[in-house]
Amino acid sequence: MVDRRFSILSEGFAAAPHRYYGWLRDRAPVHHEPAVDGYFLSRHQDVRRVLGDHETFSTETLQVRAEPVMRGRVFARMTGAEHTAKRGIVVRAFTGPALQEQIRAVRANAVELVAPFLSRGRIDLVNDFGKPFAVRVTLDVLGLDKEDWQQVAHWLGGVTEFVTGLVLTPERRRHCLDCAEQLEAHLAPVVERRRRHPGDDLVSMLCTAEFDGIAMSTREVTALVVNVLLAAVEPADKTLALLFKYLIDHPGQLAQVRRDPALLSAAVAETLRLTPPVQLVPRRAEQDAEFAGTVVPAGATVFCMIGAANRDPGAFTDPDAFDLHRPDLGAARSFTAAAQHLAFGTGLHQCVGAAFARAEIETVAALLLRLLDDLRPSPGFRYRETGLYTRGPVSLELDFTPVREPVPAHP
Ligand code: HEM
Repeated sequence: MVDRRFSILSEGFAAAPHRYYGWLRDRAPVHHEPAVDGYFLSRHQDVRRVLGDHETFSTETLQVRAEPVMRGRVFARMTGAEHTAKRGIVVRAFTGPALQEQIRAVRANAVELVAPFLSRGRIDLVNDFGKPFAVRVTLDVLGLDKEDWQQVAHWLGGVTEFVTGLVLTPERRRHCLDCAEQLEAHLAPVVERRRRHPGDDLVSMLCTAEFDGIAMSTREVTALVVNVLLAAVEPADKTLALLFKYLIDHPGQLAQVRRDPALLSAAVAETLRLTPPVQLVPRRAEQDAEFAGTVVPAGATVFCMIGAANRDPGAFTDPDAFDLHRPDLGAARSFTAAAQHLAFGTGLHQCVGAAFARAEIETVAALLLRLLDDLRPSPGFRYRETGLYTRGPVSLELDFTPVREPVPAHP
């Protein structure tokens, strides 16, 4: 259905997509956007159907949307035994005993990054903290050198822009492809070294793994490393900043979380439900498929609107409210395959890093809440979010009671 009064690419939608969700779900649940040539689905049941049926709705779109910058095949384009085996390597690297080790890296990075701001009593939680934190932690947990993290962040920015840009100019496209080439050139020698001298990190595990008796080439491993880098970095600072924004806007719930940090898990899950950092998940219809009386033709690109689905009143009561106690959240299963919200997707390609993401955000949030008292927006600060594909705050300038004591590295 094309409704010429509305565009996903309009300034109004970019500023506050949630204001349009109700109208989309009710009036245009299968919105066709001519400039993107894609069908945007906004109802919870439709999004769940698409993500749950990987035969009718394949991940082939990623061949053009992601693989030119990953420079190889990504996890989401694999299926069957190969997918299970290679996904299993990432699961092993991000759960169980490995996770405990990674939590130490999360804490150490957080302490180091927040330290210079403590005595000032002011921090931009996105630009001073969240963005460097996300890149540095991910490099650490992948076993990569983080000395040149700023350079890696720059290249990764280009890769991200390519994957998440709905419309790219030829100049930006060129820039993104250049970044991807340089990131690959940076990582390939590291992969080669790990192949010769493997450790117990993810890169080494990918190098030494065999599928059907065949090891992956350096290019294949590098593509998967870039895949995980992007998948882990992009949502992390957004989730953290959104969590603090929602808690500060709801002082009662902030006070409860301060009193009982065990509530953080539900607060993170509710943040992910209300504003999922990954807002769009693309698929290709492999055959004609009907939604709410509209036929999406075979071969068309379908964008699952996770943000709109997560605020569907058919799935959640009072869906626009932030309530970490909401009974329909099912906080305990929010980071599992049984989650009711769709922030981690669902089905075959559901996020493999959900357990790590939960531990990462809970750990850093608990640490910051312990250190930063009387948190409030800095005077004159204007809150703004950005992004259609992935979305988060542009900045989050906060004041707090200055801290004079040095922070212990392992509290
Ligand atoms: C709050 C944080 C995160 C959010 C909101 C998130 C969201 C998602 C979503 C929506 C998908 C599904 C994509 C699809 O169906 O096409 C996905 C897949 C994936 N995520 Fe995450 N993610 C997060 C953190 C992470 C982390 C920390 C890692 C690192 C291990 C990771 C690795 C992956 C991978 C490898 C896939 C592809 C899985 C497959 O195709 O089998 N994610 N994520």
